[in-house]
Amino acid sequence: MRKVRLGKTGVHVSAIACGTWAHGGPRTVGGMEVGWAGHDDKLAIDALAAAYDSGITHWDTADVYGDGHSEQLIGGLWDRVPREEIFLATKVGWDPSPYEHFYHPELIEERIERSLGYLKTDRIDLFYLHHCDFGPQGRYLDGAVEVLRRARDAGKIRFIGLSDWSSEKVARYAPLVEPEVVQPYRNVIDDTYASSGLKSWVDENDAGVAFFSSLRHGLLLGKYEQPTQFPTGDHRNRIPEFGDSAALARLRDCRAAVERRFARRRDAVLHALTGVLLGDAPSGCVLLGMRRRRHAVAAAGLGEPLSAEEAAWVRQIYTGSSEPVRSAG
Ligand SMILES: NC(=O)c1ccc[n+]([C@@H]2O[C@H](COP(=O)([O-])OP(=O)(O)OC[C@H]3O[C@@H](n4cnc5c(N)ncnc54)[C@H](OP(=O)(O)O)[C@@H]3O)[C@@H](O)[C@H]2O)c1
Repeated sequence: MRKVRLGKTGVHVSAIACGTWAHGGPRTVGGMEVGWAGHDDKLAIDALAAAYDSGITHWDTADVYGDGHSEQLIGGLWDRVPREEIFLATKVGWDPSPYEHFYHPELIEERIERSLGYLKTDRIDLFYLHHCDFGPQGRYLDGAVEVLRRARDAGKIRFIGLSDWSSEKVARYAPLVEPEVVQPYRNVIDDTYASSGLKSWVDENDAGVAFFSSLRHGLLLGKYEQPTQFPTGDHRNRIPEFGDSAALARLRDCRAAVERRFARRRDAVLHALTGVLLGDAPSGCVLLGMRRRRHAVAAAGLGEPLSAEEAAWVRQIYTGSSEPVRSAG
């Protein structure tokens, strides 16, 4: 597994990181499906162990994934995986209860302690603000940043991160939060990383970057033959393309074209979908959701950036454009 220097953190992490949103299992909050069906603790633990064996030593979780369940699974693994070999990231910033906002300073302090306990560690390597919603007139921004800096000074966290589904929002708040690492949503069809100005901020500030949902939750792999309805509690039910036979057929065509072009690669589509993002991000890594051993084993062969020409070709296949495209994000 290729290692990348995660910007000014100076830490060398695997170019492919292990995402554990699905390890929280199915979940519905306020009528909204926010989890993943089909979760199995034993299989998820096996996937984490396989990720470690594959050299994937950057793991990403959050307080909200299964309301701490994903963190607890990771925390149970330290007799199998040496804690000091894992670069461990978690997040706060989704669930406000019992406060009026998820960045209430007391809530952040409580969640840092809860994450330390669930993860069975005395220091979290990277602690993200999960979303760039800082309340009316941004009233929770300063307090949130202050709590994280205090926690960093106290040695409870090593580095501060900032994340959101919108690269525009991350670009807007990054100069205020001054994170060492940003985590934006980015894949070959939803790509505002450069056009939002975030790429320039990352490059100019020597920040690390971890891209999430590069497979768009598996959809972009072109592996769905039929419109699919997932069991209750699975957020993929909110994504129309999983139920759209024309969209699925188009993605199968993309898969076939990519498999022809990268015929010598064992996992051509995974290689293309991750390599296209790594190509213009020297301090970047790609998070892949890994809930089965086979996901981690396949990921072990990834992590190489595409050349500019290859990346333009892949974008052309998926979007009809050779330039990174704008989207709603
Ligand atoms: N900061 C944020 O707001 C945010 C938001 C979303 C995600 N994330 C992070 O990013 C991680 C990844 O994003 P994501 O969960 O949206 O998922 P993703 O990486 O876009 O897709 C994961 C899915 O792709 C399929 N897959 C993965 N590896 C595969 C392989 N080797 N072969 C075949 N299929 C494979 C699996 O589908 P099947 O299970 O159907 O096989 C898997 O569940 C999350 O786990 C989380 O850590 C962060």
